[in-house]
Amino acid sequence: MEKLIICGGKKLTGKISASGSKNAALPLMGASILTDEKIILRKVPDLADIRVMIKILQHIGKKISFHGGVMEIERGKETKTEAPYELVRQMRASIIVLGPLLARFGQCRVSLPGGCAFGPRPVDLHIKGMENLGAKITLNHGYISASAKKLKGKEMVLAGEFGSSVLGTDNVMMAATLAEGKTVIKSAAREPECVDLAGLLVSMGAKISGAGTDTITIEGVDELTGADYTIIPDRIEVATYLAAGVVTGGEVTVENCRPDHLENPLDFLKKVGFDIIKDENSIKISGQGRYPLNIATGPYPGFPTDLQAIFTVIACLLPGESHISEGIYLDRFSHILELARLGAKIESKGSSITIKGKSKLTGAPIQASDLRCGAALALAALMACNTTELAGVYHIDRGYENFEEKLRSLGAEIEREGD
Ligand code: EPU
Repeated sequence: MEKLIICGGKKLTGKISASGSKNAALPLMGASILTDEKIILRKVPDLADIRVMIKILQHIGKKISFHGGVMEIERGKETKTEAPYELVRQMRASIIVLGPLLARFGQCRVSLPGGCAFGPRPVDLHIKGMENLGAKITLNHGYISASAKKLKGKEMVLAGEFGSSVLGTDNVMMAATLAEGKTVIKSAAREPECVDLAGLLVSMGAKISGAGTDTITIEGVDELTGADYTIIPDRIEVATYLAAGVVTGGEVTVENCRPDHLENPLDFLKKVGFDIIKDENSIKISGQGRYPLNIATGPYPGFPTDLQAIFTVIACLLPGESHISEGIYLDRFSHILELARLGAKIESKGSSITIKGKSKLTGAPIQASDLRCGAALALAALMACNTTELAGVYHIDRGYENFEEKLRSLGAEIEREGD
């Protein structure tokens, strides 16, 4: 088991460049199923989750090359319309092949993803979306089997108890590109990653309008072509490194990013007292936090749940009592017990936490149990005095490209140990 050995208390300063977005890259890779022609994706981050998606596409029959952030996806010899449990269980986002497989081949079998470290993550909206387009769905032996001779466009509301669904919107948008007639998705997810998928689909010949708003309209076409497309920067990664700067009292600039995708979290950082300088594609952060945080996570353009754990660490440093409530994944708090081992003072009640600020964190052995929890714990270790051993590093490898290298280039003392 690999561990990160982090010697905290060093100010992080300097510049780094944002990687391409994991959560945009995964559905964009899935979109390659919609055509036999070559799809070239640029700025694909080299991450464990991307490797799982490569295996799924290869299992389906795609030929893939991936070097220096450029991925070329082509038709292989034979096609299978199945995503097996052995692969899907490694990454929930694998559900994203459901829509394109069904639309392109008229039938498919995709394993149900199963459990998740931060509570229930149902796929009912994905299934409802496919049924709305006329698919017959059965759930058997842990698999979703879907079939439809030809999908038919329809108007639908695609929201559940917690609002819109990012991958649910992506799945329906992809399926609808090859459906007969017009599909209207109401309560669609507005996340930049959905807009990026629409961008690729349009460059493949799809007819889509409204991406980035809560109503997306898709006019089905007969076929889609190849495309060459550059993926957006990873807004969650960018905010993670900005947070690394402020929790260590340093000054960090992230280049090649999209500040417009981070308006809400940057507003919170500004409100609590940090200095932020943005231009079109870079963000610089410095200064001291002077006030507590009060955040509720929600769908874009709200505060992202993927930054909740990371802002919990920032709150440990701020004066007063900060409050964070989780509106997307009510149980996504596995970081708080580990943060307590470092000395953080956090109380939880239902889906909300209260963080008593100005905590003095000290190094200890801790364990990450999911991706963003892992990144947050690494930041807490950078803030703490002495050395922290962080286990469960494979979670961080799912979503942060060259994590230690990037932090080291800013002055962090961080090493990987173990097999
Ligand atoms: N939901 C349903 N039914 C569904 C689908 C979702 O009730 O069929 C609920 C979820 O349980 C949740 C809410 O709707 O309460 C939103 O979930 P969503 O479907 O939007 O999540 P997702 O598309 O599966 C993506 C990201 C997650 C991120 C969420 C929310 C990817 C690959 N994953 O997941 O990213 O937390 O959106 O923004 O894009 C991460 O990167 O660490 C990560 C978990």
